[in-house]
Amino acid sequence: MDYSIFPIFISMILTLSTSVNGQAIGSPNLSPAPAPGPEYTNLAELLSVTGPFHTFLDYLESTKVIDTFQNQANTTKEGITLFVPKDSAFSKLKKPSLSNLTADQLKSLCLFHALPHYYSLADFKNLSKISPVYTFAGGELYSLNFTDVSGTVHLTSGWTNTKVSSAVRATYPVAVYQVDKVLLPEAIFGTDIPPTPAPVVDIAPDADSPDADNGKAIPVASPDSTSLSSSHRMMTWGVSNNLFLAIAGGFLMFL
Ligand SMILES: *[C@@H]1O[C@H](CO)[C@@H](O)[C@H](O)[C@H]1NC(C)=O
Ligand SMILES: *[C@@H]1O[C@H](CO)[C@@H](O)[C@H](O)[C@H]1NC(C)=O
Ligand SMILES: *[C@@H]1O[C@H](CO)[C@@H](O)[C@H](O)[C@H]1NC(C)=O
Ligand SMILES: *[C@@H]1O[C@H](CO)[C@@H](O)[C@H](O)[C@H]1NC(C)=O
Repeated sequence: MDYSIFPIFISMILTLSTSVNGQAIGSPNLSPAPAPGPEYTNLAELLSVTGPFHTFLDYLESTKVIDTFQNQANTTKEGITLFVPKDSAFSKLKKPSLSNLTADQLKSLCLFHALPHYYSLADFKNLSKISPVYTFAGGELYSLNFTDVSGTVHLTSGWTNTKVSSAVRATYPVAVYQVDKVLLPEAIFGTDIPPTPAPVVDIAPDADSPDADNGKAIPVASPDSTSLSSSHRMMTWGVSNNLFLAIAGGFLMFL
């Protein structure tokens, strides 16, 4: 007897509680006093008091991307993960410059700094397995690769290799992490990344030969060799980064 009534009882409670929740969320909040619920984070406010992230916040506001992000944080179960560069990262960015990007490109660049899902720091281990990860800007051209290097989260956009240097906030549904560099998407800045030297094209010594003009050998990279070289690049970068840390550490000892 008791057992047959039990499920009905449970579903009644569930129905009741969801309708109460629905009402609470649906009712317009007209009170001017800020009454933040446990889950509400005002992103603009958060970015204005941490960091300094003023340059990034200015870009988010001028492109209205801040509303897209806030809406995601407010209304979705997925939540949001933001990667925010400090003001100093923008001032270091001499080449390429953001000053001549079109409005659409600037918007994409902002969207590129967020993932439409909440990821805690612990979740990044999984992200490295499912890389490339699509950002808010959407599509393969705007994806990021994550790698876990002995507990530090490294991310690469093709153009930019950087790491998560600190967690500003990681409370569902909003995760905000500070990154060392501005993330530059390949889709905007192209793929002419300097690190790997271009293959030397042999110029035929016999300039008089009739084939001289159309005899240039253009090396065709197979998809395999491309991914190999990019993972190699990532490893080299990691090693040189460690080397840098070691040298910097040694330098500090002399101070
Ligand atoms: C997000 O929610 C807050 C608090 O309910 C509200 O003031 C704000 O206008 C919302 N913003 C967006 C973009 O939905
Ligand atoms: C933007 O600036 C870069 C150099 O800073 C230049 O190479 C490029 O042609 C410029 N693009 C436009 C659209 O002006
Ligand atoms: C990450 O992977 C672990 C084990 O593989 C799994 O239990 C966990 O749910 C995953 N987390 C996410 C966010 O996918
Ligand atoms: C990201 O990883 C995928 C597969 O692992 C690879 O094909 C792609 O080139 C990587 N992208 C970058 C920007 O490193």
